[in-house]
Amino acid sequence: MTLHAITWDGSTDRLRLLDQTRLPGETVHLDVETVDQLVDAISVLAVRGAPALGVAGAMGVVVALDQARREGWDEGTLEAAIDRVRLARPTAVNLAWGVDQVRPLVAQGRDAVLEAARRLAAEDEAANRELSRLGVDWLLARVDRPRLRVLTHCNAGALATAGWGTALGLVRELHARDRLEFVHADETRPLLQGARLTAYELAEEGIPHAVQSDGAAASTIMRGLVDCAIVGSDRIAANGDVANKIGTLGVALACREAGIPFVVAAPWSTVDLATASGEDIEIEERPGEEVTRYAGVPVTPSASVGFNPAFDVTPARFVTAVVTERGVVSPAAGERMD
Ligand code: MRU
Repeated sequence: MTLHAITWDGSTDRLRLLDQTRLPGETVHLDVETVDQLVDAISVLAVRGAPALGVAGAMGVVVALDQARREGWDEGTLEAAIDRVRLARPTAVNLAWGVDQVRPLVAQGRDAVLEAARRLAAEDEAANRELSRLGVDWLLARVDRPRLRVLTHCNAGALATAGWGTALGLVRELHARDRLEFVHADETRPLLQGARLTAYELAEEGIPHAVQSDGAAASTIMRGLVDCAIVGSDRIAANGDVANKIGTLGVALACREAGIPFVVAAPWSTVDLATASGEDIEIEERPGEEVTRYAGVPVTPSASVGFNPAFDVTPARFVTAVVTERGVVSPAAGERMD
């Protein structure tokens, strides 16, 4: 069984999202009827994670088509609404990719778009399972330990995808093969995707883990407490530069210094060959209040402002391996994605 954070609900014929802002405390679903609701859900990270955003984008086109029919939109209004979904967050290439995959089918009607969006979701889960197998084979051929100790950052699990997960997919696969010892999950300030979501998924599956502050990551790596780091990605450029949640770069630098693999796990839909290098990736800037507050409570002097880039770019030379369903590429060894 795998969690499904994003589904098209057959009984209501609507997009249904597991509200990830409420986890782990509450399991609340959002029924999405309008483009405004979807853009808001994407903006506040009720639905998040690059592959899940791809599915949300594709299903968002159906939401727009249904709203257009109900409200009698003209074509220009419909196109503008689809563009709003496509641009709701800038860094994860999957969001625009998901919209672009189904947009050409609009002329064939909403059922054709819905079928394509559902297929895209099924393909994402299948890709995650395949890349997990390939990634674990790659790791076990290189790390000589009966059971691996893994560090991960942010949440790249079932919640961040159509199901199963990318970085956590590898963790699940290791666990299933009885080759996993322990997971160090970075809490991932400011929105705590690690503490709230990764820990939730690991706890659900009985996988031994600890949540650590982001500041502990470099020391955990340098003390030899983990054998590798495995993370997801929001966009991988043609040269192998990797955008992922802020803090990932520090993990990669520490892995390089410690001489352990820094592994990026992502479906091919996250690879953006049209982006030459990380310099061309737009990094989302989020509200400073996410940093100056903790759980909604101000923690800084009122005169302080927050600096809140949501992602960073790890240069290809620090990326030991990019694992996709198509195989393993080693940017640090000079291999390119194209
Ligand atoms: O801001 P978020 O929570 O959408 O950021 C998510 C990440 O950075 C993930 O690591 C990435 O999207 C890969 S998810 C399989």
